[in-house]
Amino acid sequence: MLTGAGNLPAPRRHIIPKVAVVGLGYWGPNLLRVLFERTDVDVRWICDSDPARTDRLTRRYPSVMATQSLDDILDDARIDGVVLATPVGTHYELAKRCMEAGKHTFVEKPLAHATPLATELIDFATRQELVLMCGHTFLFSPPVQAVKSLIDAGELGDIYFMSSSRVNLGLHQRDVSVIWDLGPHDFSILLYWLEEPPTTIRATGRDSIVPGIADVAFVTLEFGSGLIANVELSWLAPSKLRRTVIVGSKKMVVYEDGTAEAIKIFDRGVEYKDPETFGEWHLSYRSGDILSPNLPSQEPLSLQAGAFARAISTGELPEHGLALAREVVRLAEAADLSLDNGGERVELGESLQSVTA
Ligand SMILES: NC(=O)c1ccc[n+]([C@@H]2O[C@H](COP(=O)([O-])OP(=O)(O)OC[C@H]3O[C@@H](n4cnc5c(N)ncnc54)[C@H](O)[C@@H]3O)[C@@H](O)[C@H]2O)c1
Repeated sequence: MLTGAGNLPAPRRHIIPKVAVVGLGYWGPNLLRVLFERTDVDVRWICDSDPARTDRLTRRYPSVMATQSLDDILDDARIDGVVLATPVGTHYELAKRCMEAGKHTFVEKPLAHATPLATELIDFATRQELVLMCGHTFLFSPPVQAVKSLIDAGELGDIYFMSSSRVNLGLHQRDVSVIWDLGPHDFSILLYWLEEPPTTIRATGRDSIVPGIADVAFVTLEFGSGLIANVELSWLAPSKLRRTVIVGSKKMVVYEDGTAEAIKIFDRGVEYKDPETFGEWHLSYRSGDILSPNLPSQEPLSLQAGAFARAISTGELPEHGLALAREVVRLAEAADLSLDNGGERVELGESLQSVTA
């Protein structure tokens, strides 16, 4: 099991936690918007080392205080939690500083840029009884949760393989490859759906535009059950596509994020009958109905913000927790290693399940 929170429930402090949002580049303003719209959390500070970014947002949110220094937030005893949306390479250091100051901490994905650092953060949060949460937004997405229910109920049968495309034009990250930027979405979804870590990973790709930073990667993951998954990641595509196909022995599913019918369940498959005599090889194809279930239209980002607020105020932690977040870091690390070694298969060895306890 990769679910489980991994750190202890936080003590109840306030009914409405007071938080700060740090890092207001591309993604931070989205987190700020959903936090601001919620009534169960109170945004007090925004912070970015670039004053132009805080200036722009204080005009829209005049009630929040703005700063260029994280220290101002850490020194404010009224602040319960900090939401970090800074570049990947800063996650470990900033999250550590926040927790050392006694703040509950939400870190955008991935939790850290190396597995030992992710482990250190988790251990620290556990020891200090602080909430540490990682922004795997898709785990709060109704279509992703609906696919999990189908898998858990056995509706798809044995899953043979999955194939995913997560591509668009930009945004090139300055400090990490596309594997660390887009990969955590697919890795977290796969781990959540399958509740087992892969046994091997392989990645090929290239740095088409910025030397040394891969902007396209094809990642293949093999699981103990025989299931294989292929994930295409790219910042270099003519249009945006977030599409996952799941092929099971009973049914197949197409999950296309952001479309009106995000999930389509196909009652389709192939049956193979063992030949009794030579030449009697027989396949029968099944082509039944296509169903598109009606799904709740809640915004995953807001549900995620609510989960952080609830964890701080009640100690109730999200179902999928830090073991999964750490496993995502391990997969990104292993995929990068494979990429650097010409697509060599990387054995993943023992999984990091101990934090599920
Ligand atoms: N969940 C999602 O769907 C999703 C989508 C996009 C990005 N992200 C994640 O969000 C994070 C940020 O990505 P981005 O694309 O917004 O990056 P970005 O470079 O556009 O923005 C980062 C911001 O952080 C600021 N910053 C850096 N160090 C700082 C510090 N020490 N103190 C204060 N401010 C600091 C920078 O000035 C910048 O404004 C990344 O971890 C990324 O993986 C998540």
